[in-house]
Amino acid sequence: MDKILILDFGSQTTQLIARRIRDMGVYTEIIPGDALLNCDTITSEVKGIILSGSPESVYGTGAAPDQKIYSWVCSGGGAMPLLGICYGLQRMTFDLGGRVEALPHVEYGRINVKLNIGYEQPAINREQETGAGGLIYKFLNGFKDSFTAWMSHGDTITQLAPGFREYGASATGYPAVVAHNEKPWFGIQFHPEVTHCEDGNSILGAFVFNVCGCEKNWSIEHYMEELNRTLRERAADNPVLLLISGGVDSTVAGAALLKALKPEQVHLMYFDTGLMRKNETETVRLILQKLGAKNVHIIICGEEFLSALENKTDPEEKRKIIGDLFITIQEREVARLKLPDSYLLAQGTLYTDLIESGKGVGKKAHVIKSHHNVASPLVDAKRKAGKIIEPLDRLYKDEVRRLGRFLGVDEDVIRRHPFPGPGLATRLPGEVTKARCDILREADAVFIEELKSRVSHNNKSISLYDDIWQAFAILLPVCSACDVSGEMNPGYVLALRAITSSDGMTADVYPFTARDLQEISARIINSVKEIGRVIYDISSKPPATIEWE
Ligand code: XMP
Repeated sequence: MDKILILDFGSQTTQLIARRIRDMGVYTEIIPGDALLNCDTITSEVKGIILSGSPESVYGTGAAPDQKIYSWVCSGGGAMPLLGICYGLQRMTFDLGGRVEALPHVEYGRINVKLNIGYEQPAINREQETGAGGLIYKFLNGFKDSFTAWMSHGDTITQLAPGFREYGASATGYPAVVAHNEKPWFGIQFHPEVTHCEDGNSILGAFVFNVCGCEKNWSIEHYMEELNRTLRERAADNPVLLLISGGVDSTVAGAALLKALKPEQVHLMYFDTGLMRKNETETVRLILQKLGAKNVHIIICGEEFLSALENKTDPEEKRKIIGDLFITIQEREVARLKLPDSYLLAQGTLYTDLIESGKGVGKKAHVIKSHHNVASPLVDAKRKAGKIIEPLDRLYKDEVRRLGRFLGVDEDVIRRHPFPGPGLATRLPGEVTKARCDILREADAVFIEELKSRVSHNNKSISLYDDIWQAFAILLPVCSACDVSGEMNPGYVLALRAITSSDGMTADVYPFTARDLQEISARIINSVKEIGRVIYDISSKPPATIEWE
């Protein structure tokens, strides 16, 4: 399968480059910008390399690529095609003998770029389809003569590296499009991956298809074909155990295992900690059965969790109790299955869990799902023994959703908002009791039902639920007396949280209409008798967090 390799120098938009190209049907992989290059990193599948942007400077602390990149010879005998984006271009210029200096003013936002060369120039002779001149033409074919680009740079090229030539400049007069006279090396000062850049896809596509000659052979069907083969090879006849949380990732991972392996071989274990949402356990059971699971182990352990949490109100202590108990129960229950030592442990790790972009070159860190979750000795031991399989580790979240649909996973699961490992405990400031969990479960279910039945005012074709990244209710340990139907009830205060986000690292408050909020609040107060007041949390992250605890 053809592949574009992306060297990540820490730009916040590196992931976007990878996404855009994958969406064009070409597989991409991101590796640290300073990774050592050898035949393992640059396999024969790699048809071109993109050097990403960076918040650093080439003359400062910015990382440099392994210099072998400039002498790498492709299997066809030519130089490896390179595209430098922003810092990537400055990096190539600096490494190859040009000059990069600080701009008097940072260029940021939409800026016009004009190609500044006529096609009569020999270097891009329209007739010449082969050789570097032909490639330059093929690359520039992705550009309009004048277009609005998206810039974000504090440095600029003040002298091109030998062999390079400028083919386009920004309205402020700095080089914006450059190409080497002989080698398939290109650079652009702007960010085609950002949606504000006019024709950004066509520019990236010109490099990927016209210069690198990639074929569109990345698709979910193709991924599943490969996965079938690799999972069967890895697992052979050994049992495979997957811990299911009820969320998208683990359910799709389970569906992939069930599709690729014999269902008898696949063990799916789910823990009902008593801190789950309404009807969650039953729904999970039905979904797994529908996917053809034969060995579903549902462990009901709510009482253990609730008794361990009795009288505990400190958020950190509550989290620790839940994390530790989870590990104890997990080890105990897995041991009870009496699987042979040769069993493999599957995880729903995603591509984004493995790369940590934005840090100048994220090292490949095997984190267990999210930054919050406690390390599990079971996972550590299995990883050491080389017995972990991660069927989704090359996929982005929306590709996981596509794979889920392809495998017939319920649409409700696929569109489900994230839910934290410690469950409702993060939404119950104060003591976690069964009674408080029940009230929260009911109120949360009404909130979510309302969101699913209401149309988004931003986009009339989707529901409020689908327009929101994550929404849930929080039950406060506060009573605000009120009289419902003539009887004094506890009048608990319920907070609603609804946010938009792309990855949960930052979040904006969802801008409900006042009418939606009023109607949802009335419905909750009328349906859950213990609730007397509803408030809306309007804090963004940062400085607040998404969960309350
Ligand atoms: P915060 O509260 O840190 O949440 O802004 C960011 C995202 O992570 C989820 N979250 C967790 N996920 N285990 C998880 O798997 C946890 O302990 C945990 N705590 C928070 C949260 O729901 C949000 O999507």
